[in-house]
Amino acid sequence: MHSFGYRANALLTVAVTILALMCAIASLSDNFNSPTPSAQVQVLNINWFQKHQDGNDEISLTLNISANLQSLFTWNTKQVFVFLAAEYETPMNSLNQVSLWDGIIPAKEHAKFWIHTSNKYRFIDQGSNLRGKDFNLTLHWHVMPKTGKMFADKIVMSGYRLPQDYR
Ligand SMILES: *[C@@H]1O[C@H](CO)[C@@H](O)[C@H](O)[C@H]1NC(C)=O
Ligand SMILES: *[C@@H]1O[C@H](CO)[C@@H](O)[C@H](O)[C@H]1NC(C)=O
Repeated sequence: MHSFGYRANALLTVAVTILALMCAIASLSDNFNSPTPSAQVQVLNINWFQKHQDGNDEISLTLNISANLQSLFTWNTKQVFVFLAAEYETPMNSLNQVSLWDGIIPAKEHAKFWIHTSNKYRFIDQGSNLRGKDFNLTLHWHVMPKTGKMFADKIVMSGYRLPQDYR
């Protein structure tokens, strides 16, 4: 006959083993979770478009940013930082990146959203390169986990063009 102590110990061993297994499965499922986020951005309006006295172009846009980033959230996600950048090429730089908007998504329930907004940060070029410029709008994100490494990715939306004339 087994003593009570022996049985308790055996139970504990089973419990610990199951717990370890569950942890392993959880972190594996986090690694193998392949997120399928989506985003669309419409430029609803060009509010104004000017050349400053120093020669730099600046434009103000009204945007409709919509995204579904719910699949980025797992049991291990603390929050997600997102920003929308205008990206374009100039003779000086192959990549100019101007952040237009950002936000912090604290939970999965808030990760499917649309926002109608003018650019939160100024869209200024280091020169006068914006007239008629083709550009991309890229939604970047950084996933901050509860444990483990942060990771980042993006969705590039191409095919946008700025107006030919100041207004
Ligand atoms: C913004 O986009 C969303 C999703 O595409 C759409 O449902 C909504 O009506 C749009 N809002 C405006 C103001 O265009
Ligand atoms: C814009 O997006 C297109 C298509 O993904 C890409 O080929 C191009 O290099 C991008 N332009 C910039 C300036 O990042």
